[in-house]
Amino acid sequence: MQRFDAYKIQSAWEARELLRERGQFWTPRWIAEPMVEYALAERGGLLFDPAVGAGAFFHAAKVIAREKGLPVRLAGMEIDPLALAQSAAFGLNEADLAQVTIGDFVLQPPRTKLPAIVANPPYVRHHRLPVEKKVQLRRLSTQIIGKSLDGRAGLHVYFLIQALALLEEDGRLAFIVPADTCEGKFALDLWTWITNNFALDAVLTFAPEASPFPGVDTNPLVLFIRNAPPVDKFCWAKCYHPAPDALNGWVRSGFRELDTTGLLAICRDVHEGVMTGLSREPSPTFTHKYVLGDFAQVMRGVATGANDFFFMTLERIERLGLPRECFVRAIGRTRDVAEEEITHQLLESLERRGRPTWLLSLNGDPLELFPGPLRRYLQEGEKMGLPVRPLISQRKPWYRMEVRIPPPFLFAYLGRRSCRFIRNTAGVVPLTGFLCVYPRSHDAAFVDCMWKILNHPDTIANLARVGKSYGDGAIKVEPRLLERLSIPDHVVEQFGSPVQMRLFEPKPAYS
Ligand SMILES: C[S@@+](CC[C@H](N)C(=O)[O-])C[C@H]1O[C@@H](n2cnc3c(N)ncnc32)[C@H](O)[C@@H]1O
Repeated sequence: MQRFDAYKIQSAWEARELLRERGQFWTPRWIAEPMVEYALAERGGLLFDPAVGAGAFFHAAKVIAREKGLPVRLAGMEIDPLALAQSAAFGLNEADLAQVTIGDFVLQPPRTKLPAIVANPPYVRHHRLPVEKKVQLRRLSTQIIGKSLDGRAGLHVYFLIQALALLEEDGRLAFIVPADTCEGKFALDLWTWITNNFALDAVLTFAPEASPFPGVDTNPLVLFIRNAPPVDKFCWAKCYHPAPDALNGWVRSGFRELDTTGLLAICRDVHEGVMTGLSREPSPTFTHKYVLGDFAQVMRGVATGANDFFFMTLERIERLGLPRECFVRAIGRTRDVAEEEITHQLLESLERRGRPTWLLSLNGDPLELFPGPLRRYLQEGEKMGLPVRPLISQRKPWYRMEVRIPPPFLFAYLGRRSCRFIRNTAGVVPLTGFLCVYPRSHDAAFVDCMWKILNHPDTIANLARVGKSYGDGAIKVEPRLLERLSIPDHVVEQFGSPVQMRLFEPKPAYS
């Protein structure tokens, strides 16, 4: 028998881009089988996959039906006939696919309710969705959950909503989704609806070493949900390496708590899980007195809309004859800062390496008031069509730059294991690769204290609880969420007594 454990990952960038457009990554067998087993619930019957692809779940269902002697019927949808065509290579035949409709599951769903739904929905992020489709999707969420979800919800989120709406009473659903389904801005609305209307049985997460899609920068998790009255507790598990036996045993046991070498499963409070983010471990936040926002204010770095035009080297400024006083020192890429401090020496070394560190920071003065070379440079920008670019077109005049007071600390926005706070001794302004962290007091002792507190390993460890995870340990943190970063009590007590920290009124020192 041919094993269906091939997940499809192409190495060439173009091929991967194409896959991303369509969300075509196949579920490995060790994940597909326990998902199908949960959905079938020992009773067999109709199994529906809304995004069949090459048929990973159909294949798993056939294996399980044969092993358990269950009568299983297969049905589903797929938008791309070419994806479906690949199912033959994995042992599925025409009869297996007879009830698969070619079409869009989200916008043209089946008309009947379904007893068992299993899916690896296409992971198509919101910025890849056409504007008209986004409008239709938001309308759909208003119809189903009574709220228009934040625009950052990707197609997979709407797959989940649509599938839940189609689930029969006592029906079961198992979905493998990226972690942003539980971490995105829309997550609270989505999960409030789900946990108020369905029974969340279990959530399975994966350590990077156990990822079902190795080499792909998503952090997936599996949701097990029943159309039954809501529950207060659910089982949350983390898989530390691919452990098919432990996983199958866990699902068959009805999600009992366990601690084996490959799998840890614990019972959690649903409310806590939703507030923490179901992709994350239980949060001790409730026991922490302090969050970063008590001591600092966070803002994103400057968005120029065209770094190539506004951000340059001194050599280029001089070559173009631009007035140096129209520029501020800035830092653009996290890769440019390997150290934990931005010093004048670092800026000089970047300059020597031809890295830009000067940001054209103009106010709203009319073009005519600028010296000739600057006027001509801006006219060049106009010819390049910069004034009509999406972000730039919102500025009046288009060359007016956002203003930031140089922050004492920068936070490297997206990093693999190197998510960190950086001290800004050189007084640079960061671009959007960083967040600006402004302590709520200018007092030197307070700033020093904060520096130690922020870089303490126990503080850094809490970043995973407020950030969005991208697999491989990469974490992206939004400004408001960074302000919710828990600062462990013992860290505050070690470096700055709470009394001393509290002396500073929590009011913004910068605005
Ligand atoms: C991540 S793949 C999963 C395929 C398969 N079920 C598996 O788990 O290996 C998602 C599939 O959804 C299909 N798809 C994308 N948009 C769709 C839509 N709106 N309706 C139905 N299928 C869609 C893609 O072509 C792709 O084959």
